[in-house]
Amino acid sequence: MVKLFARSRPAPVPAGRDNDSEKEIAGRFLALGKQGMLDLMGTCFPGEVARLIESEWPVTQSAFEALAPDDVSEVEACVKKRYGAGTLAELAAWKSKSLPHYRREILRYGCALVPDVVCGKTRMSSANPPPGVHSMMRQDPFAGDLYSGDMVLAALNRARSTVKAGGSYLDFGCSSAALLRNMFAAFPEARWNGCDPVAAAIEWAAKQFPGVNLFVSKQNPPLPFESASLDGAYAISIWSHFSERAGLEWFDEMHRIIKPGGFLVMTTHGMRSLYFYLEKEMMPPDVIAGLLAAIVGRQFAYQTILGCDGLDMTDWGNAFFRPEWVVRRLGLKWNVLDFKPGLNQCNQDVYVLERGAAAG
Ligand SMILES: C[S@@+](CC[C@H](N)C(=O)[O-])C[C@H]1O[C@@H](n2cnc3c(N)ncnc32)[C@H](O)[C@@H]1O
Repeated sequence: MVKLFARSRPAPVPAGRDNDSEKEIAGRFLALGKQGMLDLMGTCFPGEVARLIESEWPVTQSAFEALAPDDVSEVEACVKKRYGAGTLAELAAWKSKSLPHYRREILRYGCALVPDVVCGKTRMSSANPPPGVHSMMRQDPFAGDLYSGDMVLAALNRARSTVKAGGSYLDFGCSSAALLRNMFAAFPEARWNGCDPVAAAIEWAAKQFPGVNLFVSKQNPPLPFESASLDGAYAISIWSHFSERAGLEWFDEMHRIIKPGGFLVMTTHGMRSLYFYLEKEMMPPDVIAGLLAAIVGRQFAYQTILGCDGLDMTDWGNAFFRPEWVVRRLGLKWNVLDFKPGLNQCNQDVYVLERGAAAG
């Protein structure tokens, strides 16, 4: 009897076993080599993620639009006088390379060099945290973080949500308020709250930005808010550090304090971060392979890190997780309204979650 298709059948591939340990699987990923691992991870997100932010920058735009053309010319003249023609030429070059970055730079220099006009018109500030005070950004002059504000607002716009006048909002893990100060400046009619366990950062920020309710929080829930008292919260690079247990507990606490229908914008490490750290050689390939094995197998990977800023490191390390984990573990408590892999600095994923109606 003729065996149809017998020749075209592929040779059987020796299968891995379901119970292979993560270590064995990590070894197989490592054997792919750097490019092989990058190719594998690259199947999880589109190649052009890095560019999205360039067309979406509502916070920068509204601050910049508060300035008249003469104000901008005055800032440029002051940059030349204070820092020289070379710095002015660098600034001008950003106009064609990245208009949002150029405008952020005008605002940054403007707050320091022409404060009466620029701080006066935008409500921004040139307060710069001293070296002992925690901040993720170090610049001189400094006018806070506009990039993350653009990222949060653009994410909310995509999700057809926004910050409302009279609404109450939280920057969870705000450090010394680099972003929060500019959210307060952009939306002065909203009530702004910020918390962080690092007391020195909060104390410095509370003195600089008295219009914001800043307080030192504990590393574990609860937060001192009534149930369903907030319209929304955002957390930049916070869930990227929680262990799985702590991350789930904090999602539950956000579910308690945010009103049904309110938002949580959060950024976290995901597959794109593993790609970023491997590509830039910021983590050794065997460490990446171990995290890759965990995130592929369980959609969640975690590594412990050394202590910093006096924090208890029991549940604070580096977490990497997939949208599948978010959907599976958060269930009906949170709806995923928007997800953009790697949108935060080509590294962290950005999620917009809506507080679902399901009980806690
Ligand atoms: C990577 S930084 C991000 C800071 C800020 N969100 C930003 O983007 O500039 C992480 C912040 O989380 C704070 N943090 C540590 N443990 C925390 C916890 N259990 N709850 C809230 N924030 C925490 C740290 O003190 C630090 O300020």
